[in-house]
Amino acid sequence: MRKNIVAGNWKMNKTLQEGLALATELNESLAGVTPNCDVVIGTPFIHLASVAAAIDTNKIAVAAQNIADKDSGAFTGEVSAAMVKSTGASYVILGHSERREYYGETSETLNKKVTLALANGLTPIYCCGESLEIRNANTQNDFVKNQLDETIFNLSADDFSKLAIAYEPIWAIGTGVTASTAQAQDMLQFIRSIIAAKFGADIAQNTSILYGGSCNAKNAAELFSQPDIDGGLIGGASLKAADFKAIIDAF
Ligand code: 13P
Repeated sequence: MRKNIVAGNWKMNKTLQEGLALATELNESLAGVTPNCDVVIGTPFIHLASVAAAIDTNKIAVAAQNIADKDSGAFTGEVSAAMVKSTGASYVILGHSERREYYGETSETLNKKVTLALANGLTPIYCCGESLEIRNANTQNDFVKNQLDETIFNLSADDFSKLAIAYEPIWAIGTGVTASTAQAQDMLQFIRSIIAAKFGADIAQNTSILYGGSCNAKNAAELFSQPDIDGGLIGGASLKAADFKAIIDAF
């Protein structure tokens, strides 16, 4: 059976001290509790090792928000998959629309990043999702299919079965405009159907597919009640322990 996952994406927020305080508060709020989902927090690189050391990583997994598309070597400023893994992190968020839009990440780079993540034992949370323009033209399914075709659908079935997917429509990110439950369910059902066509029904049934975009404590329970929505990738509402815990509790 596929896992339910609630993953936070802190983006470029929190100093090291603030991040440690947030992670510790979340860790304490989960003491003695067995959540009905896997819990992941995606911190900036510099927080990874300290956060992983400060929390129970069996209960809260730690994610990076990016990795280099190279193994190692003279690539100033980059951080490799092996380095991320060595901090105690076990996930990496890849292909976020902010990285595609502001840092020019292409399908070609993302292919390499996904492959390196998997080769180093990190679980990718692979992001996809369309702009408002594409949604208004009603071509979102073709667009998302193309994003997957060019990247993770090139993987072997064995590798593909190790990752999770997050559908994040760009128009819902940080806007307070959540996709309707029907819009989110329809897209995730579509994604699962194209996984089934490519890799077979078993792998499709076992792939965790998350929704992201203005997901919060108020709308999480309804979103998570949908048959194809296996959790959320949470931005703003992951920056306060109580808000994030309330989303975890929505399962
Ligand atoms: P918000 O939850 O702030 O809309 O961000 C979603 C997101 O981009 C998570 O990766």
